[in-house]
Amino acid sequence: MDILIKNITSLVTCRDLNGIPKSGGSQSQIGLIKNTNIFIEGEEIVFVGNSKNLLQFLKTGKKKNYNEIDAKNKTVLPGFVDSHTHFVFAGSRADEYEMRIAGSTYLDIAKSGGGIVATVDAVRKTSKSVLKNIAEKHLKNFIEHGTTTVECKTGYGLNTDNEIKMLEVINSLKTKNNYGLDIIPTFLGAHSIPKEISKEKYINKICYEMIPIIARRKLARFIDVFCEKGYYSVEETERILSMGSKFGIIPKIHTDQFNSIGGIGVALKVKAISVDHLEALTISDIKRLQYKTIIATLVPGASYFLDMQYPPANEIIDNNIPVALATDFNPGSCMTENMQVIMSLASVKMKMTAEEILNAVTINAAYAVYMQDIVGSIEVGKQADILIFDFPNYRDLIYHFGINQIEKVVKKGKIVVER
Ligand code: NIG
Ligand code: FE
Repeated sequence: MDILIKNITSLVTCRDLNGIPKSGGSQSQIGLIKNTNIFIEGEEIVFVGNSKNLLQFLKTGKKKNYNEIDAKNKTVLPGFVDSHTHFVFAGSRADEYEMRIAGSTYLDIAKSGGGIVATVDAVRKTSKSVLKNIAEKHLKNFIEHGTTTVECKTGYGLNTDNEIKMLEVINSLKTKNNYGLDIIPTFLGAHSIPKEISKEKYINKICYEMIPIIARRKLARFIDVFCEKGYYSVEETERILSMGSKFGIIPKIHTDQFNSIGGIGVALKVKAISVDHLEALTISDIKRLQYKTIIATLVPGASYFLDMQYPPANEIIDNNIPVALATDFNPGSCMTENMQVIMSLASVKMKMTAEEILNAVTINAAYAVYMQDIVGSIEVGKQADILIFDFPNYRDLIYHFGINQIEKVVKKGKIVVER
């Protein structure tokens, strides 16, 4: 049934006015509307406006049968877009987590045979249907905390069969999942190096075997590489992303997480849609990204979980680079599906303002997954992905932390979470 959300005290639309990601000063423009109403028909927002215009709209549209939600003293936001995750995996790395708490570093553990390849072992042993069941549990956590669109990377298969298996799981969840979440698949074959073959041979497999199959079967929208010391060099990253690009798969990069080795230069060359992580980003690389539309996707949950430095968010915003925030949900470096935690970290640890954060988890993140025409803001013509919170001032969302503040989640015009 259609839905009227009426008497909304604070509607944060996150609407973008120029058709480009929000950067610099516009990163703080959230399009706040006080005392307004939204009408949803099917999956789409068809009306936003004051009560007088609403009456007219209902009359001329002869709207009679609809559900009403009273949003007096409430805040309404677009559904969160989590543009960087690794939510399909098996096994647990709680042992590794404890080693880190006792003093080992992420890179030490990887060098001694743990890390990403530990999850690879578990994923290779797990069937598609079991992987799907585990992933559905994570999807429940995403939606219950307000995420209505989520990207998901492969990278725990590290051979053709298992990378394709992961993509099949992601794509079958994309076609159908319990909550109607929008899911965007990314091929991250170059996430680590498999134990059984040389890196050179593996890169050839990625370029000449996996990418052509993935492109032919349309299994991934994006291609990603972990550009880092001990993983993929600048040259290797460029080779893989250029090949993806040749096949119509859009590049993204995991770069500058631990070391700044030149991933930003590659991103500019291959016209990546986003550069992700950036904990070790240098000022000169910030200057190179200035006035481009490449999104800087920051994942402060990984800094928190690995107890490392945070990315220089203020400098990035001050230099007119659009910022998105994501969970990076994965078993090794950030074990949470909760975007509200990420928003708190962005505020306390990176000193982003509430307004900058709100655009970073909605419209800018939608740009980072090329979904800006469908999701990321509340405006007529967009998909009805809407969050309702039980407070009148949107700032409370970031101020109050550590609990789930969601009251209702509307996904594609259906109430899917009510608390
Ligand atoms: O984004 N840095 C590389 N990849 C992931 C971690 C994956 C894992 O440890 O399983 C990240 O942090
Ligand atoms: Fe990641």
